[in-house]
Amino acid sequence: MKKHAGIKIGLAGLGTVGQGVWKHLRSRKSELEARMGTTFSLERAAVRSLEKKRSIRISKKALTDDAMSIANDPQVDVLCELMGGTGHAYEVTKAALNNGKTVVTANKALLCHHGDKLFRLAKKKDAHIYFEASVAGGIPIIKALREGLVVNHFPLIYGILNGTCNYILTRMEREGKAFDTILDDARKLGYVEADESLDLDGWDAAHKTVIISYLAHGKWIPLKKMPVEGIRDVTLEDIQWAQRLGFKIKLLSLILRDFKKGHLFASVQPALVPKDMVLANVDGVFNAISVTGDIVGESVYIGRGAGQDATASAVISDVVDAGTAIAHGIMPEEPKNRDDLKLAKPEEVYRSFYIRLAVKDKPGVLAEVASVLADEGVSIGTVLQRPNGKKGSANLVLTTHLCSEAAMQAAVRKLNRRKALLNKPFLLRIADFAQRLG
Ligand SMILES: NC(=O)c1ccc[n+]([C@@H]2O[C@H](COP(=O)([O-])OP(=O)(O)OC[C@H]3O[C@@H](n4cnc5c(N)ncnc54)[C@H](OP(=O)(O)O)[C@@H]3O)[C@@H](O)[C@H]2O)c1
Repeated sequence: MKKHAGIKIGLAGLGTVGQGVWKHLRSRKSELEARMGTTFSLERAAVRSLEKKRSIRISKKALTDDAMSIANDPQVDVLCELMGGTGHAYEVTKAALNNGKTVVTANKALLCHHGDKLFRLAKKKDAHIYFEASVAGGIPIIKALREGLVVNHFPLIYGILNGTCNYILTRMEREGKAFDTILDDARKLGYVEADESLDLDGWDAAHKTVIISYLAHGKWIPLKKMPVEGIRDVTLEDIQWAQRLGFKIKLLSLILRDFKKGHLFASVQPALVPKDMVLANVDGVFNAISVTGDIVGESVYIGRGAGQDATASAVISDVVDAGTAIAHGIMPEEPKNRDDLKLAKPEEVYRSFYIRLAVKDKPGVLAEVASVLADEGVSIGTVLQRPNGKKGSANLVLTTHLCSEAAMQAAVRKLNRRKALLNKPFLLRIADFAQRLG
């Protein structure tokens, strides 16, 4: 083994992920050291409460309630930021980078909100950030994009990046139960974040989408420029309609790039995925990402997107890379910033749609709806209709052929003004390989 003073590791945060990292770094120490070509030691860990019972053995002396003291400790080479949040975690990460340390983080919210500043600071200070665990837990997607697929350009990336939503949608579909019932179960199982909006309204998936966009395209997309919707409005009926039409509904992250125009688009929205696509069959808490590279074609990555061990596995892979790089003096290249890349407007995306309408149950209504859509250049693919249990009204479900989001939105605005419609049309996108930037 190459002679090196040894890598000193500090953990800021010793909760679910931190304890997994501590445990597995210790249990596989000699194997990992052989891989790194140097030794490592777990120096200290910062927590909020020094009194809390932990599931791992750690000496009192190794614990501190001052995370900043680890970031400023000249002995520590690698700081694992596993506290979460964008407040103190940001300050601690900045301090570590200012001190030229390598930071390994699982914190997608931190990177989404402050990634641009943190990566610029890292560059200035000759420090480094590793972030495999921040996207899709145990799936090594960052490494795949950064290393395995390095020769490729990526016109299309889409994925299921929130296990909680996938769990809820899967159980609604399999058991025919309503959203609220399954959500209650998910809460009891501890699958839902304390701030439920992060999961249910798409924000957690959006944080991860922003990170993947940066990695694949070198651009930090501001959250406010991304369409982000969650799954609260998806009904059991939508799931059943979708099934009849040959689709499953998933909360989908989408990243589209038009290389000719230099445009980039990202969104998080519930979408209909054709049943013959791999992602349609990724169920429960699992995550999956489909990456289309211009040279390699499509590759799909599936695995556990969260949980102590899956996330620790990703953090440790970064720790080993960081240790190897420090020991051998070869530091990684960060993605090149592409500030010149323009963001496409949502209206510029072309795809097919699913529309659910509650309409008056009388002759001529379908023809009226079809004529409004045709006026905007939207052509209908399929039509399903059934009574909805309310006297004089029916539910109508349509799918369209490929059209622009702009045309679809114009049609929806017009439909909204029609007396035959009993409430606002509900729209879902169809995610297939035809979707593209116009
Ligand atoms: N859990 C997952 O499955 C998962 C998956 C992927 C990514 N992540 C990310 O990993 C990070 C950690 O998640 P987690 O689930 O492990 O969270 P957690 O269980 O809540 O653990 C957070 C840890 O940070 C400590 N901490 C919080 N604020 C602190 C402060 N101001 N000073 C010192 N210590 C502080 C806590 O101390 P106490 O223990 O004393 O409270 C705790 O040990 C988050 O960014 C999360 O988004 C988690």
